[in-house]
Amino acid sequence: MNTNFLKLLPTLLFLTGCAGNGDTTNDPNLPPYQNESLPLEQRIEDALSRMTLDEKVAMLHAQSKFSSAGVPRLGIPELWCTDGPHGIRPEVLWDEWNQAGWTNDSCTAFPALTCLAATWNPEMAALFGKSIGEEARYREKDVLLGPGVNIYRTPLNGRNFEYMGEDPYLASRMVVPYVRQVQKNGVAACVKHFALNNQETRRYSVNVEVDDRALYEIYLPAFKAAVEQGGAWAVMGAYNKYKGQHCCHNQYLLNDILKRDWGFDGVVISDWGGTHDTKQAVENGLDLEFGSWTDGLSQGVGNAYDNYYLARPYLERLKRGEADRQTLDDKVRRVLRLNFRTAMNTHKPFGSMNSPEHLAAARRIAGEGMVLLKNDGGVLPLDSAATGRLLVVGENAVRMMTVGGGSSSLKVRHEYTPLEGILAAVGSTCEVLFERGYVSDATDTFDGVKTGQDLSETRSAERLIADAVKAARTADAVIFVGGLNKSPGQDSESADRASYGLPYGQDRVIEALAAANPRLAVVLVSGNAVAMPWIDRVPAVLEAWFSGSEAGHALADVLFGRVNPSGKLPFTFPVRLEDNAAHALGEFPGGDTVRYNEGIFVGYRWHDTKAIRPLFAFGHGLSYTTFEIANVKADRTSMTANGTLRVTADVTNTGDRAGAEVVQLYIGDAESTLPRPVKELKGFEKVMLDPGQTRTVEFTVTSEALSYYDDTRHAWTAEPGRFTAYVGAASDDIRGQVDFTLE
Ligand code: GLC
Repeated sequence: MNTNFLKLLPTLLFLTGCAGNGDTTNDPNLPPYQNESLPLEQRIEDALSRMTLDEKVAMLHAQSKFSSAGVPRLGIPELWCTDGPHGIRPEVLWDEWNQAGWTNDSCTAFPALTCLAATWNPEMAALFGKSIGEEARYREKDVLLGPGVNIYRTPLNGRNFEYMGEDPYLASRMVVPYVRQVQKNGVAACVKHFALNNQETRRYSVNVEVDDRALYEIYLPAFKAAVEQGGAWAVMGAYNKYKGQHCCHNQYLLNDILKRDWGFDGVVISDWGGTHDTKQAVENGLDLEFGSWTDGLSQGVGNAYDNYYLARPYLERLKRGEADRQTLDDKVRRVLRLNFRTAMNTHKPFGSMNSPEHLAAARRIAGEGMVLLKNDGGVLPLDSAATGRLLVVGENAVRMMTVGGGSSSLKVRHEYTPLEGILAAVGSTCEVLFERGYVSDATDTFDGVKTGQDLSETRSAERLIADAVKAARTADAVIFVGGLNKSPGQDSESADRASYGLPYGQDRVIEALAAANPRLAVVLVSGNAVAMPWIDRVPAVLEAWFSGSEAGHALADVLFGRVNPSGKLPFTFPVRLEDNAAHALGEFPGGDTVRYNEGIFVGYRWHDTKAIRPLFAFGHGLSYTTFEIANVKADRTSMTANGTLRVTADVTNTGDRAGAEVVQLYIGDAESTLPRPVKELKGFEKVMLDPGQTRTVEFTVTSEALSYYDDTRHAWTAEPGRFTAYVGAASDDIRGQVDFTLE
């Protein structure tokens, strides 16, 4: 046989699709919608042309608690969703909330998103997205119901722990890598809750009144970044209303802004129970209805799927000619596009679950996100060699935090609690004692997942304090681990916090410990700011967040100096609740309507403009070393609207150990027609430095960084005039500034 033919044979076999390589997606005998070598839009049109009316409508609503129909006749698979933003929820039964009791669905709990935001490190967001995307892929999920990027408007919002803080620029920079990396696994990120879901009180019905400037400058940017820069394939509508329409079917947010202005080509998924009307769902931008008649958490009308608003009622409207086919086909195209990107994507990686890499990622992100708020006298890091007896006090040192909190609750293979982490780190060199200190509540289960912990206690609060104080008197150092927890009314979905102070009498315990032993460090496990009436009597405070499976190891890494803390606060800690804008102006939680009277003046924007000193400022975070930021300058004194201005600063590690500083750039508009905050975050860079090392950080300022949303012109505007670039280590720690003009 001609040897040339033999050489050609593999190619011929491949082209005719007969090759044994099993790659069927290029087989020309496949119908176009199955042929992945064809353009996506061509495949969508081909699939659409083959679908019946019933099949189209069936694709637009749930068939079970977390899945929606494909087209069995055409081999188009179902779509499977899973919570949540920091870990893959345990499998549930077909039409239940409770877990199904599988034995192979324990996951890695990554830190909650406030912790991720507190790293101020987009590389950590990428690592987070990659890792959680791999676990979703391994569990064969097509849509991850996260991340959440609702803005932190009040410290009382029960779900702030699931979000990325009070500043739209920080949240925007951190959400994009997360989305991109999740989606590299062939899993859609479903960014939530769009939009204005900033409280849990009356979450299903509260109508949010907010001016356009605050909407566009504060509450939308992170969603816009997730869609335009992250390329998010799905967005979840929020429960609440805006302009009187539920956000799951809202003309303004979904059709006008998300789909028309931002060019979103993905799927709008309702929150579970967020759909209320067929006509509105059809006409106001909803594409995929889930969880109708549930409370989003526990109750639900069983198996009502044919009655869903986008099920039979929609089909009947279509058949009566009361709903147009173009709108139907647009919805189906979007769901097919999501399907082809995920379930029907044969080039997806395989993912992984509970891998050493994921645990290492969880530990690294947690360690980078913890924020050293105060460290007078260098109480931290603790020198284990010089600490003969170490006392750990507080229920949060032993209480599991991965179970509870609502839909983001998880079933982990193991959660290293703070006490476990401390014992693992120094138990062989120190005598580690534990005192309960206070008792919270007996919540130990969520959706059938039990912590298995027995936190029962017979001693009175007074007895608990007395026992802790007695032990503190003879300890070389004391670590109090308290904060909030995931019980209803704390950091949890479906209810807001009742008060700003630490619950369960913790303030009394902290005061008593401070009186008994000056070498006291307070560790807060929480997702919200809290009041600290004892702050002047406590030398060291560390915000440890809800930091997942590796919480204890990450905390010990920081407490004993294996990791030098580099986190910065993603939201302000006001001294008292009324120093917070929403509470100062009285509109929280509102009634049937909540008015965001503070407008754009959220968080540090309020504190700066009203000169209200915070307890700890947005962007604040200390290190075990020290940094100098100097030589702040600009390459010019004026810039044009289409030009740029380079701001540089030198950051030096002036201490004796390696560490990282987050150099922050804020811009202030010195002469604006409309009211503006004193300054707004428009750049940041996390810089790792060895002792004595200096790096020059450079920021490129464009007119976008100078702009505000002019609600009279419905356009972003950069107004000519004087501006100031502030560079510092926190919003209240500016180390240099330079003035310039926009021509
Ligand atoms: C919940 C939450 C949402 C979650 C969904 C499914 O009520 O609001 O974040 O993804 O329902 O559990």
